[in-house]
Amino acid sequence: MPKKIVEATVIGQRVLNSSTKLIEVYAPELAELAVPGQFVNVQVFKGTAPLLRRPFGVAAVNQKEGTITMIYRIIGDATKLLAEYCSGDKLSIVGPLGRGFDMNAEHPLLIGGGLGLAPLLYLAAGFGKGKAEIVMGGRTADELFWTKLYEDLCPVMHLTTDDGSCGTKGTVMAVLPELLASGKYDVIYVCGPVPMMKAVAEAAKEYDVKCQVSLEKYMACGLGACLSCSCQGIGKRLKVCTDGPVFWAEEVGEW
Ligand code: FES
Repeated sequence: MPKKIVEATVIGQRVLNSSTKLIEVYAPELAELAVPGQFVNVQVFKGTAPLLRRPFGVAAVNQKEGTITMIYRIIGDATKLLAEYCSGDKLSIVGPLGRGFDMNAEHPLLIGGGLGLAPLLYLAAGFGKGKAEIVMGGRTADELFWTKLYEDLCPVMHLTTDDGSCGTKGTVMAVLPELLASGKYDVIYVCGPVPMMKAVAEAAKEYDVKCQVSLEKYMACGLGACLSCSCQGIGKRLKVCTDGPVFWAEEVGEW
């Protein structure tokens, strides 16, 4: 699969909530190649010293403008530094990496929580406006700022929050069985916390609906060389960075 090391130029950043930002960069080579579900490895600099590269799912692509967008939570040294990057600053990015989603679906249902909603955003765009429905779960209404990003792409949204402050009270599993029982969907795409993905994969099996999962693992190299991202598949070890991050649910042995 073709991948490149590029020097990307920051177009701008936007605050999405108290701990989450969206960054758009000019990187036409990546915009041309990246498909939904793939990720990029971004290097930020502290002074002149580079920190390790960090993986970010591709959240949006604008091929005409030559830009890609990533959404990240500010939680460690690298993302704290990244949050300070301004328009015109440069970032070294390797990508696009990994295996993306199989988009062969007539009636797709996307299910996401937390930053798992970032790669699903590009998937929703890939399907085209109005084709995919989405189930979004968060702890509180504040975590569902994603609705603004999705409203044009997925007019049909099913929302859940743990505290009931927005949508149905509970996890995504509070609404999923009824949705699947309708028989309306042919493929489910899920990305988010592991317990959520596991529960969704089990429900998909019960209702006999195909299911793709996008796994998140710590990734040191992102290139298949270090094994830091390996997980147990059915009958073999899987490298999330090169065999995935997207897998069919039945390929995953241990969550
Ligand atoms: Fe190094 Fe996957 S991150 S092998």
